[in-house]
Amino acid sequence: MIFEIPIIETERLILRPLDLKDAESVFEWTSDEKVAEYMVYSCHKNIEITKEWLKSLENLENEYTWGFVRKSDGKLIGSGGIRFRTDENVWSFGYNLRYDCWGNGYATEASKRMIEYVIAEHNANEFVAKHAVDNPASGRVIEKCGLVFDSYSEYTKFDGSKTFKCKVYRMKTERI
Ligand SMILES: CC(C)(COP(=O)(O)OP(=O)(O)OC[C@H]1O[C@@H](n2cnc3c(N)ncnc32)[C@H](O)[C@@H]1OP(=O)(O)O)[C@@H](O)C(=O)NCCC(=O)NCCS
Repeated sequence: MIFEIPIIETERLILRPLDLKDAESVFEWTSDEKVAEYMVYSCHKNIEITKEWLKSLENLENEYTWGFVRKSDGKLIGSGGIRFRTDENVWSFGYNLRYDCWGNGYATEASKRMIEYVIAEHNANEFVAKHAVDNPASGRVIEKCGLVFDSYSEYTKFDGSKTFKCKVYRMKTERI
């Protein structure tokens, strides 16, 4: 199922759909090694790769991807998504922010809102998230969203260039 992406908000952020017009802003972080290091995508070497990614969002099944816009200055500072995994009947989420915006609680604020949205819209009640062991900041985001450590696993970048040992976290909530 292809979801329509609504505009939602938090105290400091607007979460909105991304489109091709965002390519330059998005490329600023997808081309940054510091941001891409633990992501499943590899650092975008040119803006065409970012444009292809933005185009691909239109056809994603069972997934919401939002751009995170900072209300104070209207700047697109990152993106994240939450998707329903039909293999396990769980919702999994992820995020990435431009480097100069790390450390302000934005990823946690956006992730909590994505979780809240799918609970309200889909009666979602099981969540999973993972982060590379060497990327503990992401682990803190996951914990602050209420998930608890479940197990160790591993994941590989889409292009197969690197495999990371990772920690898997889960959360079950009451159905509304
Ligand atoms: C991971 C990422 C999204 C975090 O975004 P953020 O907005 O800085 O996150 P928050 O400010 O909401 O929370 C970060 C938490 O990690 C903590 N943290 C930061 N660096 C850390 C480190 N090296 N070790 C341990 N904790 C760390 C912060 O102190 C904060 O926790 P606290 O609120 O308990 O103090 C951001 O660093 C990023 O975009 N990284 C690149 C992409 C990425 O790795 N995405 C996740 C893939 S699984």
